[in-house]
Amino acid sequence: MTSLKWWQIAVFYQIYPRSFADGNGDGIGDFKGITEKLDYLANLGIDAIWLSPHFPSPNWDCGYDISDYVNVAPEYGTLEDFKTFLKESHKRNIRVVLDLVLNHTSDEHAWFVESKSSRDNPKADWYVWVDTPPNNWQSCFDGDAWTYVPERNQYYYHYFMKQQPDLNWHNPEVKQAMWDAVRFWLGLGVDGYRLDAIGTVFEDPNLTPHTVPMNLAELRRFSETAQTDEEKKLKDQYWLDMFKNQYGQAGVHELMKELRAVINEYDGDRMLVGEDDNIDYMGNGNDELHLVFNFPLANTNRITPVHIRQNQSERIARLNQLAVEGWACNTLGNHDRSRIYTNYGDKLHDAELARLNAALVLTLPGTPFLYNGEEIGMTDYFLPHISQVKDTMGSWYYHTIVTEMGVDPEEAMFRTAEMTRDKNRTPMHWSNKSNAGFSPENVEPWLPINPNYKAGINVHDQEHNPDSLLNYYKHLLKIRKAAPALVEGDYIPLHETAEEYFAFLRKSEKQSVLIVLNYSEKRLELNFSKELTDKKLHTLFTSGVRSQVDRATGKLTIAPFEVFIAELKG
Ligand code: GLC
Repeated sequence: MTSLKWWQIAVFYQIYPRSFADGNGDGIGDFKGITEKLDYLANLGIDAIWLSPHFPSPNWDCGYDISDYVNVAPEYGTLEDFKTFLKESHKRNIRVVLDLVLNHTSDEHAWFVESKSSRDNPKADWYVWVDTPPNNWQSCFDGDAWTYVPERNQYYYHYFMKQQPDLNWHNPEVKQAMWDAVRFWLGLGVDGYRLDAIGTVFEDPNLTPHTVPMNLAELRRFSETAQTDEEKKLKDQYWLDMFKNQYGQAGVHELMKELRAVINEYDGDRMLVGEDDNIDYMGNGNDELHLVFNFPLANTNRITPVHIRQNQSERIARLNQLAVEGWACNTLGNHDRSRIYTNYGDKLHDAELARLNAALVLTLPGTPFLYNGEEIGMTDYFLPHISQVKDTMGSWYYHTIVTEMGVDPEEAMFRTAEMTRDKNRTPMHWSNKSNAGFSPENVEPWLPINPNYKAGINVHDQEHNPDSLLNYYKHLLKIRKAAPALVEGDYIPLHETAEEYFAFLRKSEKQSVLIVLNYSEKRLELNFSKELTDKKLHTLFTSGVRSQVDRATGKLTIAPFEVFIAELKG
């Protein structure tokens, strides 16, 4: 595996700093807390951290509205605390990738404060200003995309909330300032960046209006109440149409190339992963992003063998077209998505499905990204009351549908709890003590803690239970490290019409590994004699009590929901 780069071998783990570990006991996660948990992460077996924004922010969008790109949010600690965290991570061979928000800043960033102060200040053109709203564009979070500023008697554009004004990336000074910030952290030794929402950086220069006959709140409501297949299809079309002129526009490739050049000024294989599923953003494979996420794998309520195979064949075919062969990147969970335990569960076999899906991400070709808490089976937590909601897009939606559409507050809260991202951002469960060991007793954590931490969904209890999900993740991560084919092997799907199970080979020069994921509640009798020919199966991992492998014939009995991984040996 020596020719591979570290980011191709690594398993990434996303830390959402506000919710990970509260080191100073104020109810908010911080660097002291994260640093104290690095041994936990090393022991889990991950190799790299993606840290969600840790910069000063008024937190309208929970850190994705940055008011200073070269500092640390005071509630998370100091720059010294960050440096300690970085040093301690590197000491444990854990790389650190930061979040880079290019599209917008906070409206409290000094750049915007200056820009909005007059029409002729030095930063007057750093954001996207117009005299009157030129179209009906919506912000994807809170209604109109154009907000009025009396000081300039003008409007500014924001793809996200009004507290997140879009930068004007056509202005070279903006680039210069942002690349300086990028260099600041690279100079401190960070290993790369996850690029936030790159598709939103440029807008249609003709400012073409959208054609959807409703605004954002109405479309959300329509999506929730859509019943018939026709209505459901229509709402999908409307979502695409509403934002198509504000998304994926020309200019991003050039920008990614420039950023890649900045990254390349530094030694040590610094890397970029884009929050986009468009493989085009990998350029020729060597001149834009190193990775983009395979979101289409995750964009379903039910992971099925048919869905996985189709996804893999499409993604791999496209990656293979790049001039320099592209590398995949799989994930099922992050701070914007319903947690994998809840999202892909069927309410009957959630635990089994969570194990299958973990195995899937860790055995498919490509770099896996895990999200903090999924290793202990954290679930979505639906907040009962609007006063608890921190995700501004949630509270905006609640108030809009209650006051403007007359929706019953109870129903509105039900919908809001489901749509707000608070549900998948609640504090990490470290133990079964009060506040899940996240914060001391008597301190109110920034978001309510999911009470199911008392029922075994916590690190401490699971560390002591050999059959826990946590130990399952650890075991799988070890197996992955020890099996080169699971990292560098080609992907060869087997039994391609099977609907109940997903079987595939990972085949490298040195090793061939068979993976079988039984997505059904049936015991299956499978026959791999054709694939094995003169080879025999040597079990590396199984989630069931491995009853039968007929090594000689390749006949395999697979238990319901079993994960089976075996090496093919001569
Ligand atoms: C990305 C982030 C999301 C944030 C948005 C605006 O999608 O993942 O959390 O709200 O960008 O920055």
